[in-house]
Amino acid sequence: MTTTTRQIPIDQFVSALRKFPEPAFDQTEQLREFLEDHPLSPDSLAPYLTWDRQHYTRNLIDKTSLYELLAICWEAGQSSSVHNHRDQNCWMAVPIGRLLVENFRVVEQDMTAGKCNIQSTETVEMNAEHPCAVNPHEPVHRVFNPREFNQRAVSLHVYSRPFDTCVVYSAEQGTCGEIQLHYTTEYGNPLK
Ligand code: SIN
Repeated sequence: MTTTTRQIPIDQFVSALRKFPEPAFDQTEQLREFLEDHPLSPDSLAPYLTWDRQHYTRNLIDKTSLYELLAICWEAGQSSSVHNHRDQNCWMAVPIGRLLVENFRVVEQDMTAGKCNIQSTETVEMNAEHPCAVNPHEPVHRVFNPREFNQRAVSLHVYSRPFDTCVVYSAEQGTCGEIQLHYTTEYGNPLK
């Protein structure tokens, strides 16, 4: 079957995700396969898509004690900071457009001094056929939608467990520090 014929709507995806037992969120392969086998129908994501020319948007779709599920909307040219996910697992799928993930190795990190040395290791493409799981042993990465792709993209992120802070890194300046994460919308509604 092609990716298009296997597509399921977001409400069906959420129902299936909620049935996974806790241990499924403690390793990466089972959920990565689930994302690969269940591409999302782009139309069903419409209530969760918001766009901002200054910054990618983070739109909460579902949240339990085990995971949070976000749709992130990327204008062409937008990028996340290089960051980690607080020792949590993370899976990403790209139902609309395509995106690149650049992975980094942390050679040194001193959070007290706010200093680090990180090195880029690889850049891989994510698209409707190729979701990915962040490597828990080398979780530092950034996601970006290169200007030359010349199109918007939407990624779906499963974070387990939910988290609201992360460490961001600057490879150029050799600095790192903790930041707070925010949603742009929750369950299809803008935040007050
Ligand atoms: C985020 O959750 O804000 C960052 C998404 C990513 O680049 O992994």
